[in-house]
Amino acid sequence: MITTHCTSTQSQTAVFARDVLNGLKQFPKRLPSKYFYDTKGDELFQQIMHMPEYYLMNSELEIFQSQKQDILATIGHTHFDLIELGAGDGYKTKVLLEYFLQEKIHFTYEPIDISANVLEQLEKSLHQRWPSLNVAIQPGDYFKMLHKLSKESARPKLVLFLGANIGNYTPQEARVFLRSIFDELNPGDYLLLGVDLKKDPKVILDAYNDPAGITAAFNLNLLSRINRELGANFEKAQFKHWETYNPVTGATKSYIVSTCDQHVFINALNRSFHFSAWEAMEVELSQKYDLQEINSLAAEAGFIVKKHFTDQQECFVDSLWQKPV
Ligand code: AVI
Repeated sequence: MITTHCTSTQSQTAVFARDVLNGLKQFPKRLPSKYFYDTKGDELFQQIMHMPEYYLMNSELEIFQSQKQDILATIGHTHFDLIELGAGDGYKTKVLLEYFLQEKIHFTYEPIDISANVLEQLEKSLHQRWPSLNVAIQPGDYFKMLHKLSKESARPKLVLFLGANIGNYTPQEARVFLRSIFDELNPGDYLLLGVDLKKDPKVILDAYNDPAGITAAFNLNLLSRINRELGANFEKAQFKHWETYNPVTGATKSYIVSTCDQHVFINALNRSFHFSAWEAMEVELSQKYDLQEINSLAAEAGFIVKKHFTDQQECFVDSLWQKPV
C-alpha cells in the first residue's frame, strides 16, 4: 500500500517536473494552470469564487436559480443520468439537484473527477442533505468514465461542464475536447456547457486582478508549489501577477512577470533557468466567447444548440446542446 502510494506520488512529481521543463523551454515561457490546485491553491480558488469581482460564480448561480424550470422543460425527460465533469464542491449544481428532486425526476447524479477525495467529500455532503438522492461517484479521467457510463446505461444523459472551465482551454483545444464529449454520447443526449461571455473589458480585468490580491496570490502560489515539490528556489517577491484581456479574441491571460534579471534553480530538473528583467511567463488562459462563437463551437463538434440560458446582465451563458437523434 505504502509502496503504491510512493510510486504514484513519484510518478506524479515526474510528470509535474516534465510539464514545468516543457513550459520553461518555450518562448514565451509558460506554466500549466492545472497545477494551481494544491491545498493552498484550492483554498485561494474558493476565496476567488466568493469575491465580489469574480462575477462568474454569481452569474451561473442566478441562471440556475431563475431558469431551472426552463432548463428541465427544454430537456423534456423525467428519467436521466446527470453526469458532471469536474464537479468540485457542487455548490451551483446543488440548485439543480434540489429542483430535480422536488420535481420527482428519476435521476442518478454521477460526478466525474480525477480526485477521489473531492468526490468522497461531495458524496458525503449530498447524502447529509438529501439521503434519498442517488449518487454514484466516478473517480477517473473524464473520457474514460464517460465512455464507461455510456456503455452501462441506455438512459438519456445530461452532461454538465460548468463554471467556464472550457475557457481554460484554447479555442482549438476546446474544439477537440467538445468533439470528444460528442463521441462518447448517444444520440439525443445533452450537454450543458457554462461559458463566460465577452463583456466590458474592465469587468473582466477586475475579476482576474482583484484589489485584495487574491488572484495574484493564487497564481504566484504555483511558484511555491514548484519550490516545494520540485526543489526550486523561486523568490516569490521578485515576480508579479499581470492580467490582460484582448477584446477582439476574448483571450484573458494571466502572466507571472520577473521584476529583475535572475536565475532560478530547479533541483528535480538539475537545471537553472534565466529570467530577464520584465520577462513574462504565461500561466493561464480564461477564454471569453460571444454567442455566435458558441454556436460555431457547437456546430463544429456536431451538436445542435437547444437554448442559451443567460443571466440578466448577459455576463455568462449555460448553453444547452443536444447530440442529434
Ligand atoms: C477554473 N477556471 C474556470 C477559473 C477561470 O475563471 O478561468 C480559474 C481562475 N483563475 C483565476 N481566477 C479564476
